[in-house]
Amino acid sequence: MSDKKIVLVTGAAGGIGTEVCRLFLNNGYKVVATHRPGKEQQAASWLQEEKLAGNDIQLLALDVSNHKAVSEVLPEALRELGRIDVLVNNAGITRDSTFKKMSWDQWQQVMETNLNSLFSVTQPIFNLMCEQGSGRIINISSVNGLKGQYGQVNYSAAKAGMIGFTKALAAEGARFGVCVNAVAPGYTATPMVTAIREDVLDSIKATIPMKRLATTEEVAGAVLYLAGEHGGYVTGETLSVNGGLYMQ
Ligand code: CAA
Repeated sequence: MSDKKIVLVTGAAGGIGTEVCRLFLNNGYKVVATHRPGKEQQAASWLQEEKLAGNDIQLLALDVSNHKAVSEVLPEALRELGRIDVLVNNAGITRDSTFKKMSWDQWQQVMETNLNSLFSVTQPIFNLMCEQGSGRIINISSVNGLKGQYGQVNYSAAKAGMIGFTKALAAEGARFGVCVNAVAPGYTATPMVTAIREDVLDSIKATIPMKRLATTEEVAGAVLYLAGEHGGYVTGETLSVNGGLYMQ
């Protein structure tokens, strides 16, 4: 068995997820990248397009929003992998709407993908990490979970929930050598953000002290720090990468 460290990244085929995969590969990790079941072809094309194919990266079809499906698929995958050193809970969606008009579906979909997935994916991996006596869990939250965002009651609630989850699990993981942290990116140059209506995005950019979006590299770098040797005494924290948009 290879002595490379293994990182599992959920929602890998997207802006921040892709950059996290690339950075960890470049730093000698084996990467397990999850994607939606039924999207095998797109996932294979993604590997080619991002020039990640041929590296030590393995795809895993996992619907993180479906607890039953995760319970069926993940334990078997973990048995085959043997260990997981780093988990990056990155999968996330937006269903923006003012609260007045928000449907139950918009609320529910965001909760299932962004917050409930943390229970389903993290529990078997956390238990494995406790047995190993080491592990790092990094949850990708958002500036909008810290400050609240107009039009994102669902997303802000889920992203704030991730921070509570992070602190509580950090308290449980500490004595087993498992560090649990969150990264809270600001507005980052990803398809999720560039999909915002142009006039709305311009007005958001105007409020960012650094007057620009984050690059995906800047966010992935924070994840690598928390996963690496120098992040070993950091736990229960939320590391903001937001260009000064929100200072706690
Ligand atoms: N604060 C106060 N009022 C605001 C506001 C704000 N931030 N934004 C909009 N409004 C007001 C508008 O001025 C408007 O007022 P009037 O009716 O008096 O003119 C009213 O609210 C309705 O605004 P919209 O015309 O924008 O309403 P809409 O129904 O067309 O769109 C929306 C609503 C979809 C929520 C849209 O405002 C929007 O897309 N907002 C951006 C939400 C956002 O930031 N999403 C982030 C996605 S990226 C991400 O989430 C990644 C991450 O982690 C950072």
